[in-house]
Amino acid sequence: MKQLIDRLAQDRVLSKKEFVELLCGHSEDDASYLFEKARKTSLKQFGNRIYTRGLIEFTSYCRRNCYYCGIRSGNPDAQRYRLSREEILSCCKNGYDLGFRTFVLQGGEDPYYSDQEIADIVRLIKSSWPDCAITLSIGEKDTAAYLLFREAGADRYLLRHETADPYHYTMLHPDGQTAENRKACLWELKSLGYQVGAGFMVGSPFQTTENLADDLLFLHELQPQMVGIGPFIPHHQTPFASYPAGTLDQTLFLLGVLRLMMPSVLLPATTALGTIAPDGRERGILAGANVVMPNLSPVGVRKKYALYDNKICTGEEAAECRFCLQNRMNRIGYELVVDRGDYFPERS
Ligand code: SAM
Ligand code: FES
Repeated sequence: MKQLIDRLAQDRVLSKKEFVELLCGHSEDDASYLFEKARKTSLKQFGNRIYTRGLIEFTSYCRRNCYYCGIRSGNPDAQRYRLSREEILSCCKNGYDLGFRTFVLQGGEDPYYSDQEIADIVRLIKSSWPDCAITLSIGEKDTAAYLLFREAGADRYLLRHETADPYHYTMLHPDGQTAENRKACLWELKSLGYQVGAGFMVGSPFQTTENLADDLLFLHELQPQMVGIGPFIPHHQTPFASYPAGTLDQTLFLLGVLRLMMPSVLLPATTALGTIAPDGRERGILAGANVVMPNLSPVGVRKKYALYDNKICTGEEAAECRFCLQNRMNRIGYELVVDRGDYFPERS
């Protein structure tokens, strides 16, 4: 298995059969070998500097109905909220003062915010903090909307592809939501010059190892600047309430694989990873991740953005989250930096 890991580091990709073999057949010793290689790769690209992104979850309304997601439109018990322009700008101000130079505006697909309104919010943030990057994560839109946001100043877009396999996609989403459209959006965003983030949940219901291999092959083809992966975690008010969560070990292993596939990709140790294990984010960094995304949303709404059960960091102020993560990173020999943290091509 170590030979396969060496070849992955060299060729940046394996065949589907080899990816399956690697994902299914590795031992603990192989995983340690992978993590060490991934960590070295990450240190070579970024040093011990960890990028932060301030996450602003600005709406819990969503017109979509993904079976796994707590804020799906079909959940009558979800707690809904929207942040006003002023509230969003106040989160950015707070974040800027805390050293954030990237703001991620994330939300359900909420038609209340017209495309023009989103563009206006982007413009307002950019005019107040021109040295900051803006990432949008607001789902599937048409080309005209993506272009409008880009022209308003949005730099990046996160849209997990969720699963590259069209059949698996239909098991996670109702009719009308397709893998084909999701992927088409990603290609479109890329062609508009966004730094693009794709990704998937690890251990989502019905996911097979072949699905994961296809996800890796899709990412190899897309060559996104960012990849967001985290464990699936059930939410008690969804159709997948009784499905088991993805595991820490598998998520860490995939982070290591992704770092070897794409040495300079921006790879977060996600909140979901910190939710399934108290030291999940630290272990994510040690497996090759290089980004953390503390929450800047007002504490009063945090619990309402409940994608899954037991989400961490829902009671703390932004400053507390920032310093908690700083301490966590320091303890493992890394530091949080004040930096936009843009993508740059690989250092050889
Ligand atoms: N609406 C936007 C979109 O669809 O890209 C952004 C928000 S969406 C809630 C953000 C991500 O949360 C999804 O891409 C999904 O992978 C993740 N997510 C949703 N439900 C989850 C769950 N139960 N466990 C783990 N991750 C989940
Ligand atoms: Fe909102 Fe899936 S439930 S995008």
